[in-house]
Amino acid sequence: MSSTPHQASARARANIALAKYWGKLDAELNLPAVPSISMTLDPLVTETTVEFRSDLAADELLLNGERALDVEIKRATQLFDRVRAESGVTLRARASSKNHFPTASGLASSASGFAALAAAARAAAGLAFDAARTSALARRSSASAARSVYGGYVELPAGRAGDDALGARVLFPPEHFALSIVVAVTAEGRKSVGSTDGMTHTRDTSPYYEAWVSAAPALAREVSEGLAVRDLGRIGRAMEQSTLAMHACGLAAGPGLLYWQPATLGAFARVRELRGEGLEVYATMDAGPHVKALCLASDAAAVAAALGKVPGVLRTLLATPGPGVEVF
Ligand code: PMV
Repeated sequence: MSSTPHQASARARANIALAKYWGKLDAELNLPAVPSISMTLDPLVTETTVEFRSDLAADELLLNGERALDVEIKRATQLFDRVRAESGVTLRARASSKNHFPTASGLASSASGFAALAAAARAAAGLAFDAARTSALARRSSASAARSVYGGYVELPAGRAGDDALGARVLFPPEHFALSIVVAVTAEGRKSVGSTDGMTHTRDTSPYYEAWVSAAPALAREVSEGLAVRDLGRIGRAMEQSTLAMHACGLAAGPGLLYWQPATLGAFARVRELRGEGLEVYATMDAGPHVKALCLASDAAAVAAALGKVPGVLRTLLATPGPGVEVF
């Protein structure tokens, strides 16, 4: 049981997968079929306040000051229901979430959003802070959110049947390796096919799905070993293979999932050209058209300047390894 319900706030950051999660072992428990590794990104912060109140008939959710869509409120309610079950709180919740980075930045806010919501809801229900439980709770809503609970370089292992306690873990703290991510934003607005629908469609129709699931663990291992010895080349080569294998798997679905725009390929090609010119930089893409370039922090300004000139790139954004979730 918890102490008296009250209000709490939490701050969490977006993350970028260096080794991708794509595919669910169990859709109901939202367990990933493959391990993934990410970098938590400063300054891409989401701040969320949750209050359990006796005057509410239903849960409420404001996103950047506006009432969320019904599907978004439903996903928040599922999270609140789990917190209510654990804490014994029966009241409905009012939540307000703000992204301190442009929504059209090309970085999904679901990871930082659900990490902050999980931490704030647990604290508001009077549950003591517990990173492992917070990560597992966030994972039920969005697997990538499990990683945003922690700072630095983070791994979410593949799920095991029935293991609803699955959460992420820290591989290395932010200061372990001074890398930067340069985001090349190539389009405005929401992505066309959300990650859950994309994963289900891929599993159901892509002849490459099994090949992806069996190839992913070795790529995650390579990223992890590259991080351990601070070898950007090793991390970067595995990261590019991970993203291209994930996209290849989606491209082969029926109908194929094509998240790229012309500028996506332009930016990706430019990254490879920059390598030819002696700048050590690697690229990755998620379920959207933006390119995220990984390089040493000391090269980030040069990479941003080069990618900013690629036709179709609207702007660039810089991020560095950041801390895990903070409750206040
Ligand atoms: O956690 P979700 O459902 O938002 O899916 C994230 C999927 C990717 O961003 C494409 C890859 C990843 O590991 O973050």
